[in-house]
Amino acid sequence: MASLFSCFLLLLLYCSQISRAEESSKTTILEEGTLHIDGNSSIAKIDEDFICATLDWWPCNKCDYGTCSWGNASLLNLDLSNKVLLNAIRAFSPLKIRLGGTLQDKLIYQTAHYEQPCTPFLLNNTEMFGFSQGCLPLSRWDELNEFFKKTGAKLTFGLNALNGRTICPDGSALGDWDSSNAASFIRYTVSRGYTIHGWELGNELNGNGIGATISADQYSCDVMALQKLVQDIYKGKDVKPLILAPGGIFDAVWFSKFIDKASNSLQVVTHHIYSVGAGNDSKLVQKILDPSHLDEESKIFRNLQGILRNYGTSAVAWVGESGGVFNSGRHRVSNSFVSSFWYLDQLGMSATFDTKTYCRQTLVGGNYGLLNTRTFHPNPDYYGALLWHRLMGRNVLSTHFQGTKKLRAYAHCSKSSDGITLLLINMHGGATVNVSLSAGRNKAPALLQVMNDQNPRHEIEREEYHLTAKNGELQSQTLLLNGKELNVDDFGRIPRLEPIRVNPSDPIAIAPFSIVFLHIPTIQVSACSVFTRE
Ligand SMILES: *[C@@H]1O[C@H](CO)[C@@H](O)[C@H](O)[C@H]1NC(C)=O
Ligand SMILES: *[C@@H]1O[C@H](CO)[C@@H](O)[C@H](O)[C@H]1NC(C)=O
Ligand SMILES: *[C@@H]1O[C@H](CO)[C@@H](O)[C@H](O)[C@H]1NC(C)=O
Ligand SMILES: *[C@@H]1O[C@H](CO)[C@@H](O)[C@H](O)[C@H]1NC(C)=O
Ligand SMILES: *[C@@H]1O[C@H](CO)[C@@H](O)[C@H](O)[C@H]1NC(C)=O
Repeated sequence: MASLFSCFLLLLLYCSQISRAEESSKTTILEEGTLHIDGNSSIAKIDEDFICATLDWWPCNKCDYGTCSWGNASLLNLDLSNKVLLNAIRAFSPLKIRLGGTLQDKLIYQTAHYEQPCTPFLLNNTEMFGFSQGCLPLSRWDELNEFFKKTGAKLTFGLNALNGRTICPDGSALGDWDSSNAASFIRYTVSRGYTIHGWELGNELNGNGIGATISADQYSCDVMALQKLVQDIYKGKDVKPLILAPGGIFDAVWFSKFIDKASNSLQVVTHHIYSVGAGNDSKLVQKILDPSHLDEESKIFRNLQGILRNYGTSAVAWVGESGGVFNSGRHRVSNSFVSSFWYLDQLGMSATFDTKTYCRQTLVGGNYGLLNTRTFHPNPDYYGALLWHRLMGRNVLSTHFQGTKKLRAYAHCSKSSDGITLLLINMHGGATVNVSLSAGRNKAPALLQVMNDQNPRHEIEREEYHLTAKNGELQSQTLLLNGKELNVDDFGRIPRLEPIRVNPSDPIAIAPFSIVFLHIPTIQVSACSVFTRE
């Protein structure tokens, strides 16, 4: 009865998706393809809490191309009493949060050693980054820590790396890092018992950045100094924070030099990516839906993975900041459903190259927030991130899709359950793609190790999460899960994300312009055995 009902639901859902797509394109065709999954061994392993988002310092008068999209999202004035914000972070338990961004390198901490007045960032076009120096009052730091403790967030903090340096007219920053203000700030943090998962040095100061440039040699020395400082301050503590750097746009020459010199002094090499284009680019949607444009990014991930391997370091790669569209994102692109085609594809792609953590610019703030800047209600990418966090396990499997280029596919061992979880992204607006599976090169499609039939039926059903845009409008800010709108309720609670359950023998059908997470408990591969899964 239950399964009859769910079949009926599925049929309904399937039909409604088809008819909606037909309305928009008139001719929905059927594509077929085979997804080959190599289940012998995993090709990469992500952090348990791979999903990360950022909070930034930009004040409300940070504007790009005539729009000011930051509202009150700065760490200095974010509304920490907002229930939706609290619930949105709590839903992950834990969400990694990176505190940082451009203005971190102009931020002073109001510690005992700092005697000037503690003033916020002021707009000033003659100054680097367009703002004056700003200051973080310790009372605000206390409030932030209290809030993050309540939400169960795992924090990394980006320290000001320009302190004490001379900035030349050509942008090069000379001299050693002056760590005194950072040192007293870290000491204060430890004395209050605040848990910081990692301390990161600097933001986009490696030459491809904006504003100032520090040489790889100098940066390596400064990271060593930070490491010494942290070891000293955390002496005798059981858990030591990570050291992260340089938080820069990838550049093979600079990163090679830096990793060669600094990789023994840090645990995480962070890099930033803005691969879609500028906020005023008129072709953003086309670029997001162009598989070859998305594929370009794999070069960066492959290159960095190669450098880390070459130097045989234990340091790992994180994407420390990535917003897709630079200069604060784009309204109705970065905060709409179409963004998920870029974002979820990047999560999948970066994981295959052993990226351990991926920080989205931003949790809130700019046009690219996972949450709405004014209401804190989730934008479509928020739900994609949450589903990823709940469903995609640590072990990454190699996949190859034989069929249309517009179907993108990623596979991981399932998180905290049997089997594997697929992420299937259909960027074709006029075709439903039926996907057959093959779990080994020698096996015929659909010939999978299905668990024996002693299992109760509900255990072997497939769980499917179909994400589509409301009314089939790609640039809608309202997301449908299995055909139903996702909305925060009157109490500010994040909605439950329920799958539909499907008979394992039914074909896997991915509707036009849809994104699907699929948990298949019946596919048992050696890469996901209990011994390797953890
Ligand atoms: C920011 O806060 C101020 C003062 O509380 C308020 O008037 C304004 O509407 C807020 N802006 C946004 C975008 O929420
Ligand atoms: C802006 O910055 C410049 C350079 O630091 C300074 O001389 C000027 O007084 C500042 N302007 C304002 C309005 O604060
Ligand atoms: C976007 O802005 C940049 C710099 O502000 C400008 O050079 C460029 O021409 C603009 N592009 C478009 C498509 O408007
Ligand atoms: C998987 O492992 C088995 C045994 O070790 C081997 O025979 C087979 O070729 C492997 N398959 C793939 C796709 O690597
Ligand atoms: C594709 O999947 C749909 C939905 O499960 C199914 O109705 C249809 O028969 C499938 N087509 C083929 C050719 O398998």
